[in-house]
Amino acid sequence: MRRPVVLLSLAVLAALAVLVAVREEEQPPPTPTPAAMAPTPAAAPPEETPAPEDSLLPDQVDSLTGSEASSGSSARSGSAPAIAEANAGNGVKDEQPAVPVYDSQGKPEELPQAQDKGEVILAATAHPENTLLLGEVGSLTGAQATFGVSTRNGIELAIKEANTAGGVKGKKLAVRVYDDQGKPEEAAQAVTRLITQDKVVLILGEVASSNSLAMAEKAQAAGVPMITPSSTNPSVTQKGEYIFRVCFIDPFQGFVMAKFARENLKANQVATLQDNKSAYSTGLTDVFTQKFAEMGGKIVTTQSYSQGDTDFRAQLTVIKKMKPQAIYVPGYYNDVGVIARQARELGLTVPLMGGDGWDSEKLFELAGNALDGSYFSNHYSPENPDEKVQKFIKDYKAAYGGVPDALAALGYDAAKVAIAALERSKDLSGPSVREAIAQTQDFPGVAGNITLDNNRNAVKPAAILKIANGKTRFVTTINP
Ligand code: PHE
Repeated sequence: MRRPVVLLSLAVLAALAVLVAVREEEQPPPTPTPAAMAPTPAAAPPEETPAPEDSLLPDQVDSLTGSEASSGSSARSGSAPAIAEANAGNGVKDEQPAVPVYDSQGKPEELPQAQDKGEVILAATAHPENTLLLGEVGSLTGAQATFGVSTRNGIELAIKEANTAGGVKGKKLAVRVYDDQGKPEEAAQAVTRLITQDKVVLILGEVASSNSLAMAEKAQAAGVPMITPSSTNPSVTQKGEYIFRVCFIDPFQGFVMAKFARENLKANQVATLQDNKSAYSTGLTDVFTQKFAEMGGKIVTTQSYSQGDTDFRAQLTVIKKMKPQAIYVPGYYNDVGVIARQARELGLTVPLMGGDGWDSEKLFELAGNALDGSYFSNHYSPENPDEKVQKFIKDYKAAYGGVPDALAALGYDAAKVAIAALERSKDLSGPSVREAIAQTQDFPGVAGNITLDNNRNAVKPAAILKIANGKTRFVTTINP
C-alpha cells in the first residue's frame, strides 16, 4: 500500500509545480480579494515582484475614472463632465481600469454611491524602480467625507503637475490611498500598512487631528516622514521629529476667534459647545476659553456632545438660558449643520462661531440658512486675488468642477512641500527626507507661505469668513 501513496503524492506535487509555473508566467494583475492585500505587484519592492508587461506606466497611472457626483459639495458638483473633458484632454483610454482606494485592511474599496467619491485615484504603479511611492490616508467615506475627498483632489493635482514636469529625481510619483472612514483605529491600521507593506517614502494625511494623532505615533516609530495638510491640534507634531504640518495650530486659531469675538463682535458673554470625541474640538475650546477670558470676556457655559449625535436640544436649551451674545462651536461640519438648525428652532438667534472644521459645502446643505450671520476661522479664502491662488482655483475647477475648499488647498500645499523636499533630499531614506522637509522655508503655498518652525508647524495668518445666504464671504485676515 505504501508505493501507490508515494506515487500519488508525487503526482500531486508535480501537478502543483506546473500550476505554480503557469501562474508565474501569467503574472495576473492584482485581484480585488482579501488575499491580494498582501503586497500586490503595485506595492511590492522591485526584487519581489517583477512588473507585469501590461501594467500602467507611472505617467499613465493618474487616470481619471468617472463617477456621478452625488448631490454633495460644490467641489464635486458637475465633476462628471469635467472628468470626461479631462479624460479627453489626457488621452486617457476608457478601458483603463479604475485604480481603487483601499480600506484600512488593504481591500480595494467600492465607495458607496451616496458618498462623494474621489473619482481620481493615483495608483501605486507596477514599476516601483521608476516610481516614488507616497502614501495617503483620508476620510474618503464616512461622516467627514468631504475632508478626505477634497484633500485627495488637492494632492492629486499637485502630483499630476509634478509628473507632467518630469517627476522627482527622474522618477514618477504615485500615491497609495487608504480610506479610514474618518476613524482613528482605521487610520492607524492604514498607516501601518503604508509603512510595512507599501514601504512608502512619506505619508500625507490626515485631516482630523484625532486621526492624525493615531497615525503620527506609528510614522514616528517607523521613522517615516508624515505631513498632515490640515490637522491643527498641537499634539500631532509633538509626536516627534518625523511629523510635520503645513497649517497653523489651534493655539493661534483659538486666539483669532477670541480676538474677533471681543473686538469685532464686541461680545462680552459667550457660550461654548464642544465635541468631546475630537481632540481638535476640545483643544480649540480650551484655547478660545482661555484667550477670551484673558481679553476680558466671560464664558457663560461650556456644553459638550459626541460626534454623530443628532439631538443637541438639551445643551442648546441650557445655553439659551445663559443669554450669550455668541456661541463658539468648534466642531466638524456634519454636526455643526444640525446644531445650527436646532439652535434657530429653539429661538437662539445669536451668531455661532467656529473653526476650520466648518469648511464644507455640506455645511450649508445641513444648516440651510441657519448659519447666516455666523463666522468661522479658516486657512484660505478663494477670494484671494493672488495669481497663484487664482490659477490653482482655475485648474482645480477644470479637473473637479467646483471651487476648492481649504482642505483641497492644504492637500495641494502638503503634496507640493513633500515633492520639493523629495527633490532636495540627498537620498530617499527616512532621515534624509525628514531633514529636507524640516528645511522648508518661505514655500509659496496657495493657502499662504509655509515656513516650518522648530516644532515642525507652519506659522501663517488665518482668514475670518462670514456666512451670508448660505455662502462664505471673506471678512479679514488675522496675522500671527
Ligand atoms: N483642523 C481640523 C482638525 O485638526 C481639520 C480641518 C482642517 C477641517 C481644515 C477642515 C478644514 O481636526
